[in-house]
Amino acid sequence: MPGNTSTPDWWRGAAIYQVYLRSFADGNGDGTGDLAGLRSRLPYLAELGVDAIWLNPWYPSPMADGGYDVADYRSIEPVFGTLAEAEKLIEEAHELGIRTIIDVVPNHASDQNAWFQEALAAGPGSEARERFWFRPGVGDGPPNGWQSIFGGPAWTQVPDGEWYLHLFAPEQPDFNWNNPAVRQEFLDVLRFWFDRGVDGVRIDSAAVLVKDLDSVEESYTDHDGVHEIYREWRRVSDSYGGRILIGEVWLPDQERFANYLRPDELHTAFNFDFLSSAWEPAALRASIDLTLATHVPIGAPATWVLSNHDVARPVTRYGRAVTSWDNAERRDRMPSDLELGRRRARAAALLAMALPGSVYVYQGEELGLNEVEDIPEELIDDPMWERSGHTVRGRDGCRVPLPWSGAEPPFGYSTGEPWLPQPAGWRDLTVEAQEADESSMLCLYRSALRLRRELLGDGALTWLPYGDEAIAFRRDSGLVCLVNLGAEPVALPETGSVLLASGPLDGGLLQSDTAVWIMEAR
Ligand code: GLC
Repeated sequence: MPGNTSTPDWWRGAAIYQVYLRSFADGNGDGTGDLAGLRSRLPYLAELGVDAIWLNPWYPSPMADGGYDVADYRSIEPVFGTLAEAEKLIEEAHELGIRTIIDVVPNHASDQNAWFQEALAAGPGSEARERFWFRPGVGDGPPNGWQSIFGGPAWTQVPDGEWYLHLFAPEQPDFNWNNPAVRQEFLDVLRFWFDRGVDGVRIDSAAVLVKDLDSVEESYTDHDGVHEIYREWRRVSDSYGGRILIGEVWLPDQERFANYLRPDELHTAFNFDFLSSAWEPAALRASIDLTLATHVPIGAPATWVLSNHDVARPVTRYGRAVTSWDNAERRDRMPSDLELGRRRARAAALLAMALPGSVYVYQGEELGLNEVEDIPEELIDDPMWERSGHTVRGRDGCRVPLPWSGAEPPFGYSTGEPWLPQPAGWRDLTVEAQEADESSMLCLYRSALRLRRELLGDGALTWLPYGDEAIAFRRDSGLVCLVNLGAEPVALPETGSVLLASGPLDGGLLQSDTAVWIMEAR
C-alpha cells in the first residue's frame, strides 16, 4: 500500500485533502459534483500524494447550508449518488492507499429531518420536541435575545406558537444534547459509518453542542459538558481499532482548545489560529509557537490548515493589504494583488507542510485558485447572503467548481453547467495546464507532498536563528525550512542541498515571500 496508511498512527502526520463534493467533479452532467466524479478522479488524488480525503456532508439535504442541514444521517444525497457508491468510493480509495473521513453534523439537523418533522407534528410538551430546543416565547417575542451565527434571531416561531433554537439558519434546528436519545442516535450514526469502512469523522461545530438557555447572552461555546460527549464518541471509535475524530473547534483560548485533545477525547482539531494568521513573520512564528506549546504537552499532533470551504482562498487573502482572517468586511471588499498572493500562498504551502503534525489541503488550493468575488448576486447560494440582509456575500467564492482541463468553462468539471460559474481566467489554472508546467502550483504541491511523506510528518522542530524577517527551523530528518517574509532577499545557508523552492533562487539568495526546503549537509 502506498503512503503511510498501514500504520495505526497514520493520522499524526497525515496529509488530508478536503473534498467539497458539490464542486469537485461532476460525473452525471447535472452541474453538481458527485461520487461518480470523485471516484473517477481518485487517481489524481493518489498522484498528488495525500493520505486521506475529508468529504463535506454527503447526506440527503435540502441544501439550505450546503449540506450542513442533514435530513438523514444514514444515507447519501441522491444528487451525489447512492450508499452503494459511497461504499465503493471508500473501498477504491483504500486500494489507492487513501483513507476516507466524513463530516458529522451533531449540533443541528435539517428542518426536513424526520425527528424535527415529528417534533412539529407532536406539539408542545411532547417527547419529540425534547430532542430539540422548543420554548414558549416571551410576550410576542422569542424566548431570549440570542442571535444566529449567520445573522438575525436564533429563534423561529412555529404555527402553534412555540419557538425553536437554531444557532445557524432557521432550516437548521439545534439538537438538545441533554436528551439521551440524541446522544444515543449519534453513537449509532458513528457505528453506521464505521461499519462501512469510514476511517474517521470531522465533527462540525464541535464546541457548541451544550447550551445554557437561561443566559441572557449567547451561551453555547465550550461548555464543560461537551467533553463527556466526546469521551463517549472516543470509546466508539477506539472500539473500531482507532478510527479518528477531528474537531472543528474555533476557540481563542488555547488551554480550553487543548481540553478537546486529551487522550480520551478527540484525536486532532483544526488549527484556526494558524489559518487566521497574518502573513507576517512575528505573527506566524507566534502562532507556530503557540500551537506547539498547546499540543506537545498533551501528546496530540498539531494540524496546519491554510484554507477550507468557509474562508477566502489564500491566494486572494495574502494579496490584500490586511492578510489576517478576522473580519467579514475584509473578506468581501478589499482589493487583492493576486500575483503577490500567489507567491505568498506557494511559500505558505511549503511552510505548512514542513511543520510537525498533519496538514490539510482544501481542494483547489493545490491549483492556486483565487477567491471568486464576482459571483452574480442572483446565483449566490450561501445562507449568509440572505441572513445578513445582502451585506455579506458569504463563502461561495471559495466553493466554485474545480477547473480540470480545456480552455473554457466548465473546464472538464462537468458536461453541464456548473452550479456556480467558473472564471474564464482559470484556463491557465486547470489540472491539465499545470501538469504540463513544472513551475506550477500543482507540481509544487506534488513535490512537496512526496518529500513530506519521506522526510516530515509528525515529530519535533528546532528553531534556527535567521533574523526577524525570516522563519527558519530544522526537522529531525535534517530538513531545514526557510521562509523569507521580509522585503529584502536573504542569503541561503552556505551548505546543504536545495530540495524544493516556492520561487526562483537567484545567486544564492532567497527572495521576498519565498520558501525553500534544504537538506542539511551531514
Ligand atoms: C461549520 C461548517 C460550515 C457550516 C456551519 C454550520 O462551521 O464548516 O460550513 O455552515 O458549520 O453547520
